[in-house]
Amino acid sequence: MRKLLLAAALAAASVAASAQGQINVICSVQAEWCNMIGTVYARTTGTRVNLSLKGSGEALAQLIAEKDNPKTDIWFGGTGDPHLQAAEQGLTVEYKSPSLPQLHEWAQQQARQSGYKTVGIYSGPLGFGYNTELLAKKKIAVPKTWADLTKPEYKGDIQVANPASSGTAYTMIATLVQLMGEDKAFDYLKALHRNVSTYSRSGTGPIKAVARGETAVSISFVHDGPGEKMQGFPVETITPVDGTGAEIGSMSIIKGSRNMEAAKKFYEWALTPAAQEMAAAAKQFQLPSNKAAKVDSRVPDFKKIKFINYDYAKYGASAERRRLIARWEKEVNSLPK
Ligand code: G6P
Repeated sequence: MRKLLLAAALAAASVAASAQGQINVICSVQAEWCNMIGTVYARTTGTRVNLSLKGSGEALAQLIAEKDNPKTDIWFGGTGDPHLQAAEQGLTVEYKSPSLPQLHEWAQQQARQSGYKTVGIYSGPLGFGYNTELLAKKKIAVPKTWADLTKPEYKGDIQVANPASSGTAYTMIATLVQLMGEDKAFDYLKALHRNVSTYSRSGTGPIKAVARGETAVSISFVHDGPGEKMQGFPVETITPVDGTGAEIGSMSIIKGSRNMEAAKKFYEWALTPAAQEMAAAAKQFQLPSNKAAKVDSRVPDFKKIKFINYDYAKYGASAERRRLIARWEKEVNSLPK
């Protein structure tokens, strides 16, 4: 009898667990954060979380490719521009979270301007990473402006990601176009090209190369610096005095998701302060979008940074992103060094 009861209880428990179902998540932040939210969410809810780690541009390409037969339920993180593009292309669904009023205005604006097909989950400024030991050894000054990066002393010592795969690099192009005007920005990118050793696939590749002493300078989100420094690497960050842009890291639910209810539950959880504080626990220091989330002291101080008035709607539009990346491929990436 006891055995029977136990079996019945176990069966009921496993029904309850499977009733929580599963979710397939494309995760575009760094692996430590993706793995932490995946593990914690699975343990606390019984939901199976299948993670696929992809840069922002690569994630968008995958969602376009699987449009007629979506395998993804939710896209967590990555720069906001491709999330807006996904919204425009009808790849994601409208969802108005009851938590929206708890979020910073920039995160709500991201939701509004996409017709509630995406939402801001974090923000972070673009700037430069540098290896203090390498710069000292080579007797090169810390770059302070965008123009500094084109000086001959940095030749072969700068890394930045490829804008086709990386949202970080696309944020750089969009920032420069808004800062300088488009033609001047492309002249600048051509001059920068002479000093760039590698265009990496992922946005964090360059600052990891800086940390490990493989290159002196990177163009990176500055919130990616402290995590490298905590591992003991001689890396610091700076934002250009002439002005810079910021990303609005975003989250979207995929149209045609086969686990829609589970996806919405995860989405709600990801907007809570407790979930957002996991970024810092995973050594990632973006500004959380929930106003009640604790802000770690290593999160960049936005008040000390000179920002451009980034037009997220314009630079998140499909045609604009495609056009700028194609122009970069044709006029910049094809040039000899
Ligand atoms: C890192 C940053 C995130 C950013 C992401 C973009 O993970 O910490 O803030 O959204 O890079 O990645 P990507 O490879 O698309 O540039």
